[in-house]
Amino acid sequence: MYALEINHVSKIYNNKFKALDDVDFQLNPGDFVGLLGINGAGKTSLISSIAGINSFKGQIKILGQDVLSNLVAAKKQLGVVPQELAFDPFLTVRQTLVFQSGLYGVKNNQAWIEELVARMHLEDKMDANTRSLSGGMKRRLMVAQALVHKPPLIILDEPTVGVDVEIRKNLWEFIQELHTQGHTILLTTHYLEEVEKLCNQIIMIDKGKIIAKSSKDELISKANGLPIFFEVETTAGLFSESLRQLIVNKELNKYTLQLKTSEEIMLVLTQLQQDGIKVENMNISRPKLEDIFLKYLGR
Ligand SMILES: Nc1ncnc2c1ncn2[C@@H]1O[C@H](COP(=O)(O)OP(=O)(O)O)[C@@H](O)[C@H]1O
Ligand SMILES: [Mg+2]
Repeated sequence: MYALEINHVSKIYNNKFKALDDVDFQLNPGDFVGLLGINGAGKTSLISSIAGINSFKGQIKILGQDVLSNLVAAKKQLGVVPQELAFDPFLTVRQTLVFQSGLYGVKNNQAWIEELVARMHLEDKMDANTRSLSGGMKRRLMVAQALVHKPPLIILDEPTVGVDVEIRKNLWEFIQELHTQGHTILLTTHYLEEVEKLCNQIIMIDKGKIIAKSSKDELISKANGLPIFFEVETTAGLFSESLRQLIVNKELNKYTLQLKTSEEIMLVLTQLQQDGIKVENMNISRPKLEDIFLKYLGR
């Protein structure tokens, strides 16, 4: 049985705009899939359809349960972290999670709620009103809220937007742990790093259509050939000819070198040392997901 079946799903808004056009893919139990697409591609429309919030044409099944004909059973298998932050502003963190457990008929959920809150670093906020939480805290509460009933299928719609680096790493670890425990995960994101670290399958969507389904390695290999920019700040030393050839920009003491492959990074580091260049600061920027995506699209 599939963890998620999307069978020829289309979504038309206001009888005219086709946001999803015959989307068709299946996830096996234990998959960790990145759903990639630029803004407006249809990611949230698809997730809303899976969650039974959107009407749609076609068929969606969650662990065999049909979303259209058996929504209650389907939703028990599913936890969604939505893109939009929305809470009852009059509840505390604890009340929000107890209430959510009740919606799924889960009783005596105290221990799991406390673990979730600890993992999301919200212990101090247990009795705080949701109104008083920062954007990042609200995002973490949404993750906890989606997991109160330990759903086998977890869908996260850009969960790390507005979450600071430290917490983002914690969140990744937690999601990874859930994956190791056997949960199937579908994640939408703009961050290549996130996809590289976490996902093993990639689905790309553009203008409501699936344009690619591939393993992560295949996607990364598409990134080969896109430039890597290596910035070096130095006030002492002279670049040798081999490094000078790579310079594409110079601003005050900051030189930007353009590299073709990640292997060249090591070569540049070695050369800098050999040339006796005193590096005050450096920065490496790899191709962005957007660049790879556009390359994939052939734009
Ligand atoms: N409720 C709605 N009514 C009309 N159009 C919508 C609605 N929700 C989304 N859309 C449109 O559908 C397209 C896909 O949106 P969305 O699914 O939010 O994309 P993504 O999540 O990939 O950014 C966009 O062009 C968006 O403007
Ligand atoms: Mg979206």
